[in-house]
Amino acid sequence: MEIKDIKTIGVVGSGQMGSGIAQVSAAAGFRVIMNDIGEHLVKKGLGVIEKNLGRQLEKGSISRQEFDTILGRIALSTNLPDMKEADVVIEAATEDQVMKFRIFSELDSVCPEHTILASNTSSIPIGRIAAQTKRPGKVIGMHFMNPVPVMKLCEIIRGLATTEETFRLTWDLAGVLGKTPAEANDYPGFISNRILMPMINEAVYCLYHGVGTRESIDTVMKLGMNHPMGPLALADLIGLDTCLAIMETLYQGFCDSKYRPCPLLRRYVEAGWLGRKTKKGFYDYD
Ligand code: CAA
Repeated sequence: MEIKDIKTIGVVGSGQMGSGIAQVSAAAGFRVIMNDIGEHLVKKGLGVIEKNLGRQLEKGSISRQEFDTILGRIALSTNLPDMKEADVVIEAATEDQVMKFRIFSELDSVCPEHTILASNTSSIPIGRIAAQTKRPGKVIGMHFMNPVPVMKLCEIIRGLATTEETFRLTWDLAGVLGKTPAEANDYPGFISNRILMPMINEAVYCLYHGVGTRESIDTVMKLGMNHPMGPLALADLIGLDTCLAIMETLYQGFCDSKYRPCPLLRRYVEAGWLGRKTKKGFYDYD
């Protein structure tokens, strides 16, 4: 397969990452099948895309015709076997290993032989996911950043068995989607979260130990280090459950106490304070 043969992109998961990936794929001219487990979920994902494109329309960065054409390229699905029409599937479901295993095993059985199966996982080893399929050479990590339409990076993760052809095609696809790819090998957290998440976790420790208030911690990192947002606000954007899941993966993957998740992070997650998506995290979002 060559890049010109990729016509249809399947996206599994229509949450903040999945809907963003569907949006950039449709904007790049691909036919998109956006899948999730419930009608209300895919409709919600489409609503987010409509809102984002609506903002671009208002600003004049796209025309009404482009708005309609991009939306018209996105089909909704609540049935995973619909992915049989996809040349590339990008999985962006919840960061839950068992769920991802089930999805990949099913995708492997329904998708044609040529289909590349990519995961947007932020930390689950690609090799472990690939082992659930009979096509490990065609399984790869395609890690987008949140918010997907804005962030320029796509981290491409090679599993041990990923073939050179799969890697090249995925690398080129990231470029066609308007992203700059960067290559990482398949170790816990890859590059992005190996560096980012311990910083966020340390910011939570600063709050936990009373070194500073949430405002002081975020102000220090914003104004002192020129980060676009403070680490606690960023944790709220990513989702505290996702942050905790990534810290757990680093901790277990390296068996190293330097990656231990902060107990305060765990308490917030247990209380259901997951950040922006639940309107409460380190900050309130009413
Ligand atoms: N979806 C789509 N577009 C969005 C958006 C969203 N959720 N949020 C903001 N935008 C757009 C705005 O429309 C605006 O577009 P224009 O420039 O065309 O007008 C642009 O982004 C800037 O937005 P704002 O002016 O409202 O706000 P800002 O300048 O403060 O930028 C931000 C917002 C882009 C989120 C910025 O604060 C930022 O870059 N934050 C850091 C984000 C980050 O680090 N992401 C990576 C997280 S880690 C991850 O995702 C991976 C993982 O595995 C955990």
